[in-house]
Amino acid sequence: FSMAALPHENFLHCLSLRSNDSTSISRVIFTRRNSSYESILEARIHNLRFNSTDTPKPLVIVTPTLISHIQATIYCSRKHGLQTRTRSGGHDYEGLSFVARVPFVVIDLINFRSVDIDVENRVAWVQAGAILGELYYRIQENSRTLAFPGGVFYTIGLGGYISGGGFGLLFRKYGTAGDNVVDVQFIDVNGRVLDRESMGEDLFWAIGGGGGGSFGIVLAWKLRLVPVPANVTVFTVSRTLEQNATALIHRWQSIAPDLPDEVYPSVQLRAINSTQDGRRTVVASFVSMFLGSIDDLLPLMEQRFPELGLTRQDCTEMSWAESVLYNNGIQNQPLEILLNRTYRNPIITPYYKIKSDYVKQPVSETGLNGLFSRLTEEVASSTVIILFAYGGIMNRIPENATPFPHRAGNLYKIFYNVGWLEDGEVEAERRVEWARRTYSYMSPFVSKSPREAYINYRDLDIGSNNIGYTSYAQASAWGHKYFKDNFDRLVQVKTRIDPENFFKHEQSIPPHPGN
Ligand code: FDA
Repeated sequence: FSMAALPHENFLHCLSLRSNDSTSISRVIFTRRNSSYESILEARIHNLRFNSTDTPKPLVIVTPTLISHIQATIYCSRKHGLQTRTRSGGHDYEGLSFVARVPFVVIDLINFRSVDIDVENRVAWVQAGAILGELYYRIQENSRTLAFPGGVFYTIGLGGYISGGGFGLLFRKYGTAGDNVVDVQFIDVNGRVLDRESMGEDLFWAIGGGGGGSFGIVLAWKLRLVPVPANVTVFTVSRTLEQNATALIHRWQSIAPDLPDEVYPSVQLRAINSTQDGRRTVVASFVSMFLGSIDDLLPLMEQRFPELGLTRQDCTEMSWAESVLYNNGIQNQPLEILLNRTYRNPIITPYYKIKSDYVKQPVSETGLNGLFSRLTEEVASSTVIILFAYGGIMNRIPENATPFPHRAGNLYKIFYNVGWLEDGEVEAERRVEWARRTYSYMSPFVSKSPREAYINYRDLDIGSNNIGYTSYAQASAWGHKYFKDNFDRLVQVKTRIDPENFFKHEQSIPPHPGN
């Protein structure tokens, strides 16, 4: 060891001194000098926008196998002024789990991914580095009638997903993933390992939806498993503008949020070339899952939404786990594909930018038509806008039950996903610019004061912290959009648990200014 070392060499030296077992920690530390540094970094970079030559890279990646490795990494990063970023699944839409504009260390939880299912008590202990697919696979291995209300894209990591609330196709029946956390194992800035009882209800509340990377590191969640029928029903019905899609969506806006909790309705909007005259049009796919049989679903839809013209041929019955593959567009594959952490779904483009909105009043047909004309102008067919219906139990859980505040009063959420295939600044600028223009067009039709947004659909356009200094006032702007009035309670918890703001990033919760 030489004193003329690079900044992170002091950090590395510190790690070797701190670690009880220096041989084992040396095996989980990767710097640019290690041949596997790049492959480890890139294994969980899903959005190639954050994998260019200009993207800042970590000085060190630590892939801990023991809790003591994490404790040592936190201690030595603090001591040597390095920032840490925790990465579970790496799906952060702005890359915040592995990109920072200051010297930094990535703690990659790839080796913290055990999943223990307890069928009798309907709970599971899941480590933060596990992906949703691993959880789903282990649940269905044990029971066809249990599930977890998680998201569709199953390579998402449990660490980031639940930290941001987590919504999925069972959420009208069972709430967000954060609503179904019963206990946690967590490390704070002082390296203390805490559970729900020892951390207290305030911190437990904050980490189940207050956004990843602000409070400390979640090691594992204890989750409530929920009952589902042995068979659920899925359907997809697609209509173009020429087939009356505008009127159907207009009706859907009022009907879908009032459907029984067992139905999960969404609409996916894409621009395509019309098969008749080759002109650009929009196809609306009404995609739904129902916790019940086709025989029960058909009369319900006939009564509530006859305009859709749902038929038996549109519907398929399958297990809940199989429905996850269906909703990923995966056909004729065994369920083992859920265990494939590196699976890259072809429906997700290599580059993307996301935005979100909440809708409280139905958008007029004229308003919808304006959105559709923006979609048809956009040359990329890989852009998709999805409307996810709210209602159900979301109307009955109070806004402050968890930090996730988007509950009663929402008809649906809009997910804008602008995707593209080609590398390059110009291409990226053009697509992002389209996303911003479309978002701006939608402002009269969506929630106001604040214009609400979903933290897991992270979008730095709505505001970010300064590098190195986090202003409470600045953070309030985006903080209220993500958390509404829960933001101030998150700030209080942050002030108590991490007053010096060690765990920080562009949209982390700041400590209170007066502290
Ligand atoms: P990642 O590892 O990038 O972490 C995200 C954030 O949490 C970062 O700030 C990170 O530092 C922090 N973090 C990670 N692990 C942590 C830990 N153990 N403790 C503390 N902080 C931690 N969302 C949704 O609700 N429903 C959905 O259906 C989908 N679908 C979807 C599809 C696709 C293709 C993508 C890319 C994303 C989604 N999402 C989503 C959004 C997703 O939930 C969100 O990006 C999560 O934060 C991803 O969690 P990861 O662990 O994968 O991300």
